[in-house]
Amino acid sequence: MKKAVLFYYSIHHGNTEKVAEEIANKLPVDLVRIPSKDPVNLEGYDLVGFASGIYMSEFGKPVSHFAEELDGLAGKPCFTIYTCGAPAGEFSGPFAELLKRKGVQIAGKWHCRGFDTYGPFKLIGGLAKGRPDKADFESAVAFVEELLK
Ligand SMILES: Cc1cc2nc3c(=O)[nH]c(=O)nc-3n(C[C@H](O)[C@H](O)[C@H](O)COP(=O)(O)O)c2cc1C
Repeated sequence: MKKAVLFYYSIHHGNTEKVAEEIANKLPVDLVRIPSKDPVNLEGYDLVGFASGIYMSEFGKPVSHFAEELDGLAGKPCFTIYTCGAPAGEFSGPFAELLKRKGVQIAGKWHCRGFDTYGPFKLIGGLAKGRPDKADFESAVAFVEELLK
């Protein structure tokens, strides 16, 4: 099986981190939390993933900065993962565009809902309570497993 590195950013409830950890527990995937001080050599990886919560309709800005600065991305198959509070909507577009500008081929994208108590949602007990859940974890692992075949 191929090997992947998954860079992730998760600052609200650790929703994205939970998904990333489930993936890394089941598959040959190394996790790197953003921001990361240690340089990562991508040469040892067949696949590169970026995971983030959605903040103001976008991937976290530190993820974009990190990807901009990352050497060795050109030509690497990459995948994106996000968790978001909203029940619908596609939020990976701007980050995918950044990757494409760096010469990346997007191998796949995945997302699920994540518990959200930002702003007024706190007053109603939050959105997407209990997410990500078992089904989300299984779906995320299956998604990355397919890419690693
Ligand atoms: C500052 C902030 C802004 C957010 N903006 C959005 C948004 O625009 N759309 C959305 O669906 N969820 C939004 N959310 C909810 C998060 O995307 C959701 O809770 C996500 O699972 C957080 O991931 P994390 O726990 O890994 O940080 C926002 C949360 C915060 C804290």
